[in-house]
Amino acid sequence: MSTNVNSISPAFPVEVAVRHICAHHRNLARVFRALETHAEAIAGGKCSPDFILIAAMLRYIAMFSYRVHHPAEEKFLFSAMRQSGAPGHVIDSAIGAHSSGAKQFAALQDAFNAWWDKPDMRNPPFLELVPDYISVESDHMSYEESVVLPCAVDMLPANDWAPIADAFRSHDDPLFGIKPGPELAPLHHLLFAGPVSH
Ligand SMILES: [Fe+2]
Ligand SMILES: [Fe+2]
Repeated sequence: MSTNVNSISPAFPVEVAVRHICAHHRNLARVFRALETHAEAIAGGKCSPDFILIAAMLRYIAMFSYRVHHPAEEKFLFSAMRQSGAPGHVIDSAIGAHSSGAKQFAALQDAFNAWWDKPDMRNPPFLELVPDYISVESDHMSYEESVVLPCAVDMLPANDWAPIADAFRSHDDPLFGIKPGPELAPLHHLLFAGPVSH
């Protein structure tokens, strides 16, 4: 009988923190991809807009990225990095991306609301804003994984990682976690509904 090494080897807090941050990114990337795919299909005339589904996607991004993930990064990870003398431009760049991404997201949400109010609108600006927004957020996550996290792993003492790991571990993802929010049901269905088996 084989033994799962992970089941008997408690991970170091640094590993837990990095794993959870990257898992958050993967979950967000999955929704970004789904949004981009749907927007492309609409723009290409391949399907009609599913406003309920898009609303659920935007709600998830608002709930998870802007109310959970970014605040946890700023409050726990970036502040610890700043105190440990990590290069200021690395932290400032990540915080600046949070701020500009939030502004872009607000514009995206406004454009969506305007479109939903007038569903017959021709060439809705929302469809043009989606690729730019997703590109910026994807670049930001790549920057954090390729620059910010390696810098943090180099700079932070081992003791600093326990509260960071707790901050990211303690948040249940409203879509991919154990209790998905009912308001995200259309998105949950899209991402998780498998083929019907008979
Ligand atoms: Fe971030
Ligand atoms: Fe992040």
